[in-house]
Amino acid sequence: MGNEKKSVFGYLKEPYQKYGLAVPVKLGIASHPHALITGSSGSGKSQAVLFLLGKLLQAAPDIEVHVCDFKNSEDFSFLKGYAHYYSGEDCYAGVLNYYSLFCGARQGGTDKKRRLLICDEYPAFLNYLQMKDKAGKTKKAHDILGAVAEILMLGRGIESGIWIVTQRADSSLFSNGARDNFMAVIGLGKMSKEQKGMVFPGEEIPDGVFQAGEGMLLADGMEAVTVKYPLIQDAQEWKRHIRRILETADRRHMSGRE
Ligand SMILES: Nc1ncnc2c1ncn2[C@@H]1O[C@H](COP(=O)(O)OP(=O)(O)OP(=O)(O)O)[C@@H](O)[C@H]1O
Ligand SMILES: [Mg+2]
Repeated sequence: MGNEKKSVFGYLKEPYQKYGLAVPVKLGIASHPHALITGSSGSGKSQAVLFLLGKLLQAAPDIEVHVCDFKNSEDFSFLKGYAHYYSGEDCYAGVLNYYSLFCGARQGGTDKKRRLLICDEYPAFLNYLQMKDKAGKTKKAHDILGAVAEILMLGRGIESGIWIVTQRADSSLFSNGARDNFMAVIGLGKMSKEQKGMVFPGEEIPDGVFQAGEGMLLADGMEAVTVKYPLIQDAQEWKRHIRRILETADRRHMSGRE
């Protein structure tokens, strides 16, 4: 795995804060396809995701990224009109569409494309579906829980990743213990003891209060580290860049299929 492509998952907090030195924590892209990004409201999750996505695309510009932005937030509005961007109610179709691509890749084995699904505000989305299910006697929440759990458990071998962004990380959000399949867990801002215990079980987490954009990163193959994410200076340019890479990859995939 020595020459596996890597991406930056954060900067070590101390050198960054003390000396402005950006010492990156890099993780293998193929070996760490799933990430859980958690923290209370305003802890910097969306900012961190934008940073992580930009970095991932620098390292792996060919990845096909699907984004489910349930809350229709300002942070992701730059993706409106992009073929794999879903907001609000459409996130249901977005996750299931990704799931069917994942199933196709599992069965066919021909499609060697690397993919990523990003779900911002995942619990809010699930809550919404659960409410609709009660009213309409449907089982949409169940569909999503099942699809996400399966991707978490089996996605790594076929390079189908998932990033879940959530304020809380309760195991009820992930069927059958699927939460244990995240290879990278990022906990931002001030976390309650309960949440720390859930996402960093058995880890010594310093009690220092983290500001927005600061927290812990626990990943497969390394000890937990304290990280800090940069506040993206020229967010507009960063977002333009992300969109350009996503659309270029999409065009390339389309023409490759003809
Ligand atoms: N890396 C950072 N460095 C400094 N400040 C930050 C950083 N990330 C976020 N902030 C500050 O915190 C605010 C909230 O960030 P962000 O919207 O990313 O949080 P969030 O966790 O996604 O919140 P919500 O749960 O409400 O969506 C930002 O507007 C910014 O002022
Ligand atoms: Mg957010």
